[in-house]
Amino acid sequence: MTATLDLAQRISLISESSTMKVAADADKLRREGVDVVDFGAGEPDFPTPDNIKKAAIAAIDANFTKYTPTGGTVELKQAICARHHDDYGTAYTPAECLVTVGGKHAIFNLMQALIEDGDEVVIPVPYWVTYKDVVNYAGGKCVFVDTDEANGFTFTADDIAPKITSKTKLIIINSPCNPSGGVLSREDFEKIYHLAVKRGVQLMTDECYCRFLYDGEPFSIAALPGAKDNVVIAGSLSKTYSMTGWRVGFALAPKPLIDAMMKLQSHTTSNPTSISQKAAIEALRGSQESVPIMLAEYRKRRDFVVQRLRAIPGVKIAEPRGAFYAYPNISVGFRNGIASALQFSEKLLSEAHVAVVPGEAFGTTEHVRISYATSMKELERGLDRLDHFISGR
Ligand SMILES: Cc1ncc(COP(=O)(O)O)c(C=O)c1O
Repeated sequence: MTATLDLAQRISLISESSTMKVAADADKLRREGVDVVDFGAGEPDFPTPDNIKKAAIAAIDANFTKYTPTGGTVELKQAICARHHDDYGTAYTPAECLVTVGGKHAIFNLMQALIEDGDEVVIPVPYWVTYKDVVNYAGGKCVFVDTDEANGFTFTADDIAPKITSKTKLIIINSPCNPSGGVLSREDFEKIYHLAVKRGVQLMTDECYCRFLYDGEPFSIAALPGAKDNVVIAGSLSKTYSMTGWRVGFALAPKPLIDAMMKLQSHTTSNPTSISQKAAIEALRGSQESVPIMLAEYRKRRDFVVQRLRAIPGVKIAEPRGAFYAYPNISVGFRNGIASALQFSEKLLSEAHVAVVPGEAFGTTEHVRISYATSMKELERGLDRLDHFISGR
């Protein structure tokens, strides 16, 4: 008798990450010999800085290759707290810090530790693809907040307030935002924080792109007096130091929450990779000069992408003010059997050989995400193709 494979019901609550799927589709075409321009990948095209790589090599040479404490070494936690203090003026201690296997892991752990069946989580749209799935997987209910592209996809406390009910447990803010590049002003962010405190709701701030801000000074809402009690920070070294493959992220949060997340981690991944932890210490404590260099390059590319997109008749684009994504409205291209961003992206890939992520992944239906973390040459080639695909010229 063949056993039937009866999957757990909870796994049906999530779907494969759309950004990963785009990468796989583009890769398949490439392996068939097609010249694909890939705007799908949300990762820096810069190599990891040399000082960081050398620290990892030294860690291997020194046989730092065994288990570490579950939540990361004290030295790394101290480095995370110190960098956060130096960059944003916060005052976290290692007991309020958990090192995770990438920022995604911090967010997953958080949802598992915080969200119960039926708890509501308020999420502005467009949102990073993973939030929805990890909230659903934890049994929570996503409550979405619409935003207006004419306002750069930003939102205010007045937009959030009507979404808060007695069941709301958490508000998620991601500024600069993946996929829109939208950035909240300090004033708007503070008002949302005060709303959260007043209504007894936790606030998660995903600071993955905090250092990639085109105007103004980066800030952390956790620097507000007393904010540590109500705020959970999800952080990542992936983008800031071009370390996506090393898998180092962290959470900064009240100690009971950190302890709960660590308990879960102790039975799942155990510690983040020992070698990556040594590299992360160097990233955080060593020279920071690679960060403004990358930012200057992203700014150049952002300006180019926006200018090229605006030159395509009918395409609208809110200027990204942070991160490295553009999120144009391409609904002008809804014709000839294309009626959604998903169909647009599929045809763009199969006919024009340009990979983008459809807006459906992020909660909107008329946009696609273009990652400009790729060379100017690729941007030029891909935008030529996109222009031709939409305008026929
Ligand atoms: C908004 C946002 N948060 C968190 C992450 C997590 O990154 P990682 O798991 O590589 O640290 C990403 C990665 O794309 C992201 O875009």
